[in-house]
Amino acid sequence: MTSLDLITSPIKAELKDFEAYFKNTLKSDIPFLELIVRYILRKKGKQMRPMFVFLSAKLCGGFNESTHLAASSVELLHTATLLHDDVVDESYERRGSFSINALWKNKIAVLVGDYILARGLLLQLNDHRYRFLHLISRAVQDMSEGEILQMRKSRKLDIDQETYFRIIRQKTASLIATSMAIGAASVSEDDALVERIYQIGQDVGIAFQIKDDIFDYQNKGLLGKPTGNDIKEKKITLPLLYVLNNSDSSERRRILHLVRRKNKNHAKVKELVDLVVSRGGLEYAAEQMDKYRMKAISALKEFPESDARQALIELVNYTTTRQK
Ligand code: IPE
Ligand code: IPE
Ligand code: MG
Ligand code: MG
Repeated sequence: MTSLDLITSPIKAELKDFEAYFKNTLKSDIPFLELIVRYILRKKGKQMRPMFVFLSAKLCGGFNESTHLAASSVELLHTATLLHDDVVDESYERRGSFSINALWKNKIAVLVGDYILARGLLLQLNDHRYRFLHLISRAVQDMSEGEILQMRKSRKLDIDQETYFRIIRQKTASLIATSMAIGAASVSEDDALVERIYQIGQDVGIAFQIKDDIFDYQNKGLLGKPTGNDIKEKKITLPLLYVLNNSDSSERRRILHLVRRKNKNHAKVKELVDLVVSRGGLEYAAEQMDKYRMKAISALKEFPESDARQALIELVNYTTTRQK
């Protein structure tokens, strides 16, 4: 069995039903919107967040109808934020195809992102799932703050490690934490349990984003989205931050100059990428990533042994071993 089979085997039927459920939540009677939605649905991603929802629900007792609603809600929010993120990052490739902003321009991507976000919120509201709505709205707030803070830092280039971690905790880890928490909340009334699961998800999400930031420095051709885009957008992520923090002041100035002024110059971006690789930036980031992965796994091991616990641990491992 591959690790993905191990992860999905306890939730096979749920993931299958999820496909139909998710598709159904995006129905519209506006033909143009239908066209875009069909395009989005054809390019599905790894769907790791629904996996986190279902496995966390199973860890905490089982599934019910609301677990499905929870899984669709997080995937809808994720989809909406990707549309917005590609506008913010001026990124033209997503899931191996053109991004929505590349095909239909920013205006459409922003509006369709809002539409999908609203569909998710209404899904919860119509079913009176106020607890879900609370968790999801908090994630929306965190993700927006994280992206805004990141944007601010890419103008000033004055980021430090503490701020880097705050950014990734807010923009990415918050939704993975919410996925796990909402899965637990779909089957349990125990707030302390939901909070405990949220904290585990937060560590998983930090590891997940560090992996994504490492990918941006590697060119494997499998990702389905651009590499080197972070420097192009003047985003100083952990690998480069490590190199900056381990350079003397003249080199630091030179690196910051390249990021500030030569960020759209392919040759200079490549020079920076090569520097980060040769100076051990990726190894350092991988060490940090592993610290968070292991912290999450040891917290999961405090739950009684079960197939859901095992699969969840595998999913956490997959967060850092995945190839895309
Ligand atoms: C991409 O998330 C956005 C980040 C938080 C890095 P995923 O890597 O889960 O994207 P898909 O859904 O599989 O395309
Ligand atoms: C994740 O960060 C942003 C979101 C929360 C959507 P990135 O900007 O690094 O994600 P990718 O690399 O575009 O998927
Ligand atoms: Mg991006
Ligand atoms: Mg990225």
